[in-house]
Amino acid sequence: MGFVRPYSLASHKLLNFRLRFSLTIIIFIVLYYTSGSYECFISLDCGGDGDFTDDIGIQWTSDDKLVYGGKTANLSAQNDLQKQLKTVRYFPADDRKYCYTMNVSERTRYLVRASFLYGNFNSSNILPKFDLSLGATLWTTVVVYDDTTPTVVEAIILASAPTLSVCLSNASTGQPFISTLELRQLNVSLYETDDENQFFLKLSARINFGAGSNASVRYPDDPFDRIWRSDLVRRANYLVEVASGTERISTKRHIAIRTDSEEPPEEVMQTAVVGQNGSLTYRLNLDETPGNSWAYAYFAEIEDLTPNETRKFKLAIPDMPQYSTPTVNVEENAQGKYRAYEAGYMNMSLPFVFKLEFLKTNDSSKGPILNAVEVYKYIQLTMGSHDANNMAILVSRYPQESWAQEGGDPCLPASWSWIQCSSEKAPTVLSITLSGKNITGSIPVELTKLPGLVELRLDGNSFSGPIPDFIGCQDLQYMRESHYLI
Ligand SMILES: *[C@@H]1O[C@H](CO)[C@@H](O)[C@H](O)[C@H]1NC(C)=O
Ligand SMILES: *[C@@H]1O[C@H](CO)[C@@H](O)[C@H](O)[C@H]1NC(C)=O
Ligand SMILES: *[C@@H]1O[C@H](CO)[C@@H](O)[C@H](O)[C@H]1NC(C)=O
Ligand SMILES: *[C@@H]1O[C@H](CO)[C@@H](O)[C@H](O)[C@H]1NC(C)=O
Ligand SMILES: *[C@@H]1O[C@H](CO)[C@@H](O)[C@H](O)[C@H]1NC(C)=O
Ligand SMILES: *[C@@H]1O[C@H](CO)[C@@H](O)[C@H](O)[C@H]1NC(C)=O
Ligand SMILES: *[C@@H]1O[C@H](CO)[C@@H](O)[C@H](O)[C@H]1NC(C)=O
Ligand SMILES: *[C@@H]1O[C@H](CO)[C@@H](O)[C@H](O)[C@H]1NC(C)=O
Ligand SMILES: *[C@@H]1O[C@H](CO)[C@@H](O)[C@H](O)[C@H]1NC(C)=O
Ligand SMILES: *[C@@H]1O[C@H](CO)[C@@H](O)[C@H](O)[C@H]1NC(C)=O
Ligand SMILES: *[C@@H]1O[C@H](CO)[C@@H](O)[C@H](O)[C@H]1NC(C)=O
Repeated sequence: MGFVRPYSLASHKLLNFRLRFSLTIIIFIVLYYTSGSYECFISLDCGGDGDFTDDIGIQWTSDDKLVYGGKTANLSAQNDLQKQLKTVRYFPADDRKYCYTMNVSERTRYLVRASFLYGNFNSSNILPKFDLSLGATLWTTVVVYDDTTPTVVEAIILASAPTLSVCLSNASTGQPFISTLELRQLNVSLYETDDENQFFLKLSARINFGAGSNASVRYPDDPFDRIWRSDLVRRANYLVEVASGTERISTKRHIAIRTDSEEPPEEVMQTAVVGQNGSLTYRLNLDETPGNSWAYAYFAEIEDLTPNETRKFKLAIPDMPQYSTPTVNVEENAQGKYRAYEAGYMNMSLPFVFKLEFLKTNDSSKGPILNAVEVYKYIQLTMGSHDANNMAILVSRYPQESWAQEGGDPCLPASWSWIQCSSEKAPTVLSITLSGKNITGSIPVELTKLPGLVELRLDGNSFSGPIPDFIGCQDLQYMRESHYLI
């Protein structure tokens, strides 16, 4: 994938999209009206006790219907906090997982954001550290550094099932907890990548250069509610080693944004940094182990250059000459001034410490310009357990029962409380204990489709109808079934 975004490819996809539109116009209209950008937001105020709308117009709801278990707490130091951060839901530090299960549209990309503000919620002064998973895949280890700074993580994932689950598990210190969980549906081809069935994108950096204040740009300026962090906000090892001669510029003029791009908000594109001395350099700690990344920069010419002035530059990453060949000519690439243009690499190998440098070419009269940058790390999706589909059908038969609402993959990253799984990469269910769950009706046929099942305990229920044939469970050694009513 070259440095210059292949717009021809993107417009080809758009063409396919229009074609489908004409063929299935009715389906499209139904989808369109049930998914205006606003309704495509799920914003959970974890531990909150009611619905409210915040000052930027986002509707928050309590999380209690989307999660099984956990306790709620109000943080004591509440002074300047946004309402959604004033409460948490927390879970026992045991070997189980605790999942949020949200309805999504299949084959659609979503931005998922979770935030964690500890606030010493259980008065233990033990900063929690635990794992967060997207479905069966480890997303990140949540590390809380202090009482008052929220830890925020973000990912972009293609939904492959009608629900998406976010699970907390494996506490190594303190108790797992969560402050907010947000889901934003993305439009058509935003963040489409080649291997999105096998990888999701984990946000490493999203920076608004030349920002007018410390405030982030987000909804409603960004209709997808991405959070574009101001480059004025100072953190350790973040945006350091800035080249001398770096100046901030801004404009109030309209910036044309291409719809076949990642659609950065106009407010972000109206500000930029320019390297008056010929170069722009930044070093930032990506807080990630080295890996393959999706890395794009957003450019727009927002200075009024005279006709004999030019702005041409190259990306220069130390020790990575392969990324330094193409020349960016913003005005030419964007086909005019005040027009946004996106360039980058869909799969770039990045180190832990990212040194970003743009250097003007010798035939350019002006130094480089940079409006925004986004970097995501690819995370390989875990296959999930072998019996996931059968187990999902099984629990869907008992929508009222709490044991059937644990959510996520049956075995990964931890198994449901009433089953045990093998330790393979794609685990199978080894044992099921549904004793005394007061289940009525026939024995669910899915139980007979678990090839690795060794032990099955169904006593203390009131099943009726014929006993199904367990011939599919060749390893079944022990089955306990009493109170059987024929
Ligand atoms: C948190 O505060 C609200 C009122 O502000 C109260 O209704 C709720 O019971 C409190 N929750 C806990 C766990 O103390
Ligand atoms: C999710 O979808 C299921 C099935 O379509 C529906 O029964 C349930 O009410 C939905 N849940 C939410 C929170 O919308
Ligand atoms: C739990 O976390 C520890 C480190 O905090 C890690 O070594 C271990 O592999 C994790 N366990 C699982 C099951 O993910
Ligand atoms: C708070 O968390 C710590 C660490 O997990 C635990 O030992 C303690 O029992 C918790 N306190 C309460 C009141 O839940
Ligand atoms: C999403 O895409 C549709 C079709 O391309 C477009 O009409 C709509 O304005 C887009 N929505 C946003 C918020 O960009
Ligand atoms: C921006 O944040 C930094 C710390 O990150 C602070 O030193 C500075 O005063 C803030 N500037 C404004 C304008 O708020
Ligand atoms: C530009 O770079 C030169 C040499 O690196 C340096 O001497 C000069 O001070 C710089 N000018 C500005 C405005 O930073
Ligand atoms: C560009 O043209 C202006 C006059 O329009 C002239 O003053 C200036 O020196 C020229 N700059 C360069 C780099 O040629
Ligand atoms: C990125 O490229 C490397 C090899 O250069 C490949 O192994 C990896 O699978 C690619 N990652 C993605 C997400 O395409
Ligand atoms: C630009 O000029 C410098 C010094 O004059 C030279 O070393 C360098 O190779 C030139 N770069 C290009 C791309 O021509
Ligand atoms: C079992 O279910 C019956 C009816 O479905 C209900 O009346 C009874 O209370 C339940 N018993 C337990 C222990 O849940």
